[in-house]
Amino acid sequence: MSQRKLVKLPDSQMYDTECPVCVPVNKTVGLAPIRSLVRCSLEEITISSVDSAAIMTIINELGHNILRHAGRGKICFAVIGHGERLGIRITAEDSGSGIPDLAMALKPGFSRDDGLGLGLPGIRNMADDVRIASLVSGGGTFIEVLKWLS
Ligand SMILES: Nc1ncnc2c1ncn2[C@@H]1O[C@H](COP(=O)(O)OP(=O)(O)O)[C@@H](O)[C@H]1O
Ligand SMILES: [Mg+2]
Repeated sequence: MSQRKLVKLPDSQMYDTECPVCVPVNKTVGLAPIRSLVRCSLEEITISSVDSAAIMTIINELGHNILRHAGRGKICFAVIGHGERLGIRITAEDSGSGIPDLAMALKPGFSRDDGLGLGLPGIRNMADDVRIASLVSGGGTFIEVLKWLS
């Protein structure tokens, strides 16, 4: 049975949300639980293989960033509707060291360690909206990604 509730996103519009779920991401469980949950959820809706691949890539990049840069956190996933539009809302949250310079972190090729630095810029290219709130000195990072389905 599906549960529906209204959520208010930062742009002040109301969206109808289907079964939002949150899954922990940490070094013990890795990304397998969130990946399988999202894959199963996407099988329940009509979605192109391009959109589906983009969403799985966004999940992977957010998850790898939590593991690599914060150690542990959680990812939440929901199918949302706004009028006739169907979309996906993903949030990634951790209490790690935070991102000191958001503009730099979003530049292709920028990495504070020896990563490729393509995760956050890639997410921004694939999504319709990305909002990042981060506080250094242990404040952690909160990233919200919205993608409308084609
Ligand atoms: N959850 C996070 N916590 C702290 N820093 C992060 C987090 N996610 C991303 N960052 C910072 O943003 C930078 C860019 O991220 P990204 O584009 O995914 O590149 P990469 O992970 O390859 O370094 C990272 O190098 C890191 O410094
Ligand atoms: Mg990354």
